[in-house]
Amino acid sequence: MTDDTNSSNAMWGGRFAAGPDAIMEAINASISFDKRLYAQDIRGSRAHAAMLAATGILTNSDAEAIGEGLLTVLSEIEAGDFPFSTALEDIHMNVEARLKALIGEPAGRLHTARSRNDQVATDFRLWVRDQADAAITSLTALMKVLVAQAEQGADWVMPGFTHLQTAQPVTWGHHMMAYVEMFARDRSRFEDARKRMNECPLGSAALAGTGFPIDRHMTAQALGFDRPMANSLDGVSDRDFALEFLSAAAICSVHLSRLAEELVIWSSAQFRFVAMSDKWSTGSSIMPQKRNPDAAELIRAKIGRVLGAAVALFTVMKGLPLAYSKDMQEDKEQVFDAADTLMLALAAMTGMMSDLTVNTAKLEAAASSGFSTATDLADWLVREAGLPFREAHHVTGSLVALAEKKGCDLPDLSLEELKSAHPALTEAVYSVLGVHNSVASRQSYGGTAPDQVRAQVARWQGLLA
Ligand code: ARG
Repeated sequence: MTDDTNSSNAMWGGRFAAGPDAIMEAINASISFDKRLYAQDIRGSRAHAAMLAATGILTNSDAEAIGEGLLTVLSEIEAGDFPFSTALEDIHMNVEARLKALIGEPAGRLHTARSRNDQVATDFRLWVRDQADAAITSLTALMKVLVAQAEQGADWVMPGFTHLQTAQPVTWGHHMMAYVEMFARDRSRFEDARKRMNECPLGSAALAGTGFPIDRHMTAQALGFDRPMANSLDGVSDRDFALEFLSAAAICSVHLSRLAEELVIWSSAQFRFVAMSDKWSTGSSIMPQKRNPDAAELIRAKIGRVLGAAVALFTVMKGLPLAYSKDMQEDKEQVFDAADTLMLALAAMTGMMSDLTVNTAKLEAAASSGFSTATDLADWLVREAGLPFREAHHVTGSLVALAEKKGCDLPDLSLEELKSAHPALTEAVYSVLGVHNSVASRQSYGGTAPDQVRAQVARWQGLLA
């Protein structure tokens, strides 16, 4: 091995007479981004060195020198005091070269029974695992805020929409709890992905395993993995854990974008259902009256980056022969960006939702317009007058047409007008035409009745405590 990084590579240049072309170096190097894996790389190397000593492959004194030296490297990087070198390609070789400069000869023994292939697979799994944990924590925080919103607004009536047309009255609490369910499934996707990714590739070596008597269970345990991966080819060549993370992140981003879109609509002058606080709004440089929901809009847009990352890595991995190929170096930037994007979007949504002002009068007025209780009228005819639902639907439709023509709403029609559509209609029907009665009647499991919403709020408060 030579120390001269200006000519052939210090780590693998034994058979090379000349160094790489500058453009070769530029396309090959990953240090500009994989330096983000430094803590995981050093943690993995320390576990590997300790295992090499425990199995007698390294002397204790060499392993100790390596372990101590790696801690020095760690503190240098953390102090922002580390000479990252592009000639040394990646984080693995940067760390090892610095270790050699610090402790000399024993550094060259660290790479015994290991390859960068299992090293990077291990580093990256550790990093993605941390991000899955962070996503789980962030989603829990968001769910708590939404449950609190649902609790305070369990009986605030608002219009429920289909096709973004007024459909039936629902409660604010019910609407909030719909998102709690979505984000709960997102959380469980990260939990599931974490379980599957929690196996250790270290010791797979380049691809075939190693002839050294290593103890893969020991390193797996030291790094918090449940077990070593059972196939060394698989260990170095799959990135499905990253694909799962990106898939879960993309689905979660879809959910975030839907809530973000609703906030954009609801905060518009035409709706005024909600107002974002000053902390979560921006102004316009030309229109003094403007109060823009930029954070919501950006959350709505972030799915583009996250899904883009998922598509990019799926495309990289598709059709790759076993085992390692350099293509896989393209995994990191995508996952880094997607993870950063997701965490920021989750934090912004949590902040916005905890700070939201809800205009309950506007909600209720909107809920009461648009013939939102037409289904209640039809249901009344089925229940009280024994009409087949299809006929009840038809009768109600003719009353909606009448109200529309008169420019009023269903409860404003006189009893004579109601009776003209069907003689079975009586005074009693007015009670179901009010929005509060409408939501209170939706007592089916999972329905919008305030009692049902409160039961779900209580269930989630227990689960999130
Ligand atoms: N920087 C490489 C990556 O991210 C590390 C593994 C390199 N392995 C190799 N055989 N060249 O994938």
